[in-house]
Amino acid sequence: MNGAGHAMPSRTPTRSALQQPFSRRHFLAAAAAGAITPAWSRAHAAWQGEPSQPPDSTAAAASPQLAAQTRSLMPVPYSVQWRTGGMPLSSGFYAAATGATRQDERVEAALSRLMMRIARRTALNLDPWRRGAPATAGLLVNCQAAGPHFPALGEDENYRLEISPEQARLEAPGIAGALRGLETLYQLIEAQPPGYGFPAVVIEDRPRFAWRGLLLDVSRHFQSVAEVERTLELMACCKFNVLHWHLSDDQGFRVESRVFPRLQELGSDGQFYSQSEIRQVIEHARRLGIRILPEFDMPAHTQAWMPGYPRLGSAPGPYHIARTFGYHNAVFDPTRGYVYHFLDRFFAEMAGLFPDAFLHIGGDENKGPEWRENTDIRAFMRRHGIHSKAGLQTYFNRRLNPIVRRHGKIMAGWEEILNPKLPKDVVVEAWLSVGALANIVKHGNRGILSAGYYLDLMWPAAQHYAVDPIPADSPMSAEEKARVLGGEACMWGEFVPPPILDSHIWPRAAAIAERLWSPAGVHDVPDMYRRLNLTSLELEALGSTHRALPGMLLRGFARGQNPAPLLTFMDVIEPIKGYGHSQHTYNVFTPPAFMCYAAPPESAARQWLPPLVQSFLRRPQSAAGKAAGRRLLQLFTAWDRGYEGYKKLLPHGPQMAELEPLYRALAGLGAAGRTAVRSLMGQQPLPGDWTAQKLAALAAIQPKYGDVILIIGPQMALLLDAADTGKTSGSEPVS
Ligand code: ACM
Repeated sequence: MNGAGHAMPSRTPTRSALQQPFSRRHFLAAAAAGAITPAWSRAHAAWQGEPSQPPDSTAAAASPQLAAQTRSLMPVPYSVQWRTGGMPLSSGFYAAATGATRQDERVEAALSRLMMRIARRTALNLDPWRRGAPATAGLLVNCQAAGPHFPALGEDENYRLEISPEQARLEAPGIAGALRGLETLYQLIEAQPPGYGFPAVVIEDRPRFAWRGLLLDVSRHFQSVAEVERTLELMACCKFNVLHWHLSDDQGFRVESRVFPRLQELGSDGQFYSQSEIRQVIEHARRLGIRILPEFDMPAHTQAWMPGYPRLGSAPGPYHIARTFGYHNAVFDPTRGYVYHFLDRFFAEMAGLFPDAFLHIGGDENKGPEWRENTDIRAFMRRHGIHSKAGLQTYFNRRLNPIVRRHGKIMAGWEEILNPKLPKDVVVEAWLSVGALANIVKHGNRGILSAGYYLDLMWPAAQHYAVDPIPADSPMSAEEKARVLGGEACMWGEFVPPPILDSHIWPRAAAIAERLWSPAGVHDVPDMYRRLNLTSLELEALGSTHRALPGMLLRGFARGQNPAPLLTFMDVIEPIKGYGHSQHTYNVFTPPAFMCYAAPPESAARQWLPPLVQSFLRRPQSAAGKAAGRRLLQLFTAWDRGYEGYKKLLPHGPQMAELEPLYRALAGLGAAGRTAVRSLMGQQPLPGDWTAQKLAALAAIQPKYGDVILIIGPQMALLLDAADTGKTSGSEPVS
């Protein structure tokens, strides 16, 4: 899917401020407006770490009042009433399940998992499998009914959790709610010296949206069963409830078909899921309360189907699995009966494999050259009075929908399938713009939003968090709003070979999960980051490699030398934003062997550098200002030293050379930063054109080295500008 778009300027969604060319004016305006250093800059007034290794930002609470209310909860529940006191945890802690919960293996599995996590968090020697009398259980779970065997759209996910000094009681109408409530319970663990415990609280919770998905593209890069299962576990931690599994595209067909085995034999390079593996993943997801939504994208994005079954295509072929990204022309021939017979048998098989009520047929980015170039197709269009590519795709969808329906499924597809004649039960996914969602529900269809939630754009979490399926000023009527089912974070796979999967999803996706679960009024960004940093720790504890991965790659680059200079660098760079990649050849074979793969999509410095600069600039001569100034001096020195160390590492990993100019520029900025800080601390004016020169040097740094960007530009611009003659101490450049 979007792969096509990935390389195509035409499909750029919202252009991020981060993508704009560096310029002084831009830096100053953006930094002052909070566009680049958003509200989290209020956080971290007291930063205590080594400059090159900032601490976790768990102390970053903007508002202590809010932090006292939301604590570690993410997503924030619908209603929370804190009580005084709490329930201490001891090694005698055990759970009991009553009602419909009692014999359900989902609950049993969830309780054991929870106990293991509690034990790891608290150092208590808990027996994860111990169950006992409900009256004396530390945790009592009770469901009125089990709910559907497989998770289903609209299933009741409500729960009520009441913790008293004696017991934690979790009540839910169905298992799905109980599973969500257990995640909340885990997040409530707190230190109660000398040990741990739960605070006394009453939580009544329910999701704002019923459809809270994560799309995983396993076609561009295959992700193993282990990776998919880990992703499911991490999703459950954030109360996501749909894995949208993008299983076929031009670069690979990833499911075993027994009816059409040449699909995987010739379309996957041997990288596909057997049917038993698919069942295993579905069962894993079921136990976590997560639906699996399979997507077979068509009529375009189908090149990998055609090496095995070339008659599906609209051109003579021969066809090969695509190795490059961007648009490919292969498209099903919608005029041939063969195609519908094929799809009928194919969907019969897949409907038996995937239990979810919905089947996603893609439908995006059909560019149509194969249709235009085929004389039979053109003649067919004339005969049927079809005048456009869109008209022919509608014809295709109208023949496809009854097939999907015959096999008991409801069709879902990308927004390009929207058409007045589209049956109203079809769920349509907005991806090109947030506004498309309003159009979809106006048509009478149900809609989900993925525009604004594309994780592969490398946006900071706050930028995704600001996107709401139903914004406060939405033009939708109440009836239309009711047709908004929710949204999906999308991890398109072009630039995501397996080892970097976690770091490109987590923890940012948790901010999207909160947007889709929590009430609309939950949108405080600093508090979100405070809780995201805590969630990040839990994701790591569950096996996510998002934090470990950069270090692993960098140690590999350093080949046994000290990788510290690389870690210093990694604090201040990020992968290029959007689809602006240009410095390497990116195709399915590109190994994750460049620095841009190690760079975290959202650098830690975004959180700790702005408050540090601000606390310095507020009063450079005060004690607090001087302390911040000293930290800045350490930081800038670390950049210089890092650069010297980096040069020594280059012979050990020659591919690092591409970032040498950028690191050199960083060292230069460090030197300029030191001069600026010393000048501000000593109130010594700098020569007339010094600031102008340094700002010009800063503006000259383009995001052209190795497809990474330096993210410290706005802060450096503020500092250099403040050091300019006449604009120095006492001024408050940032409020
Ligand atoms: C898409 O990104 N082409 C749905």
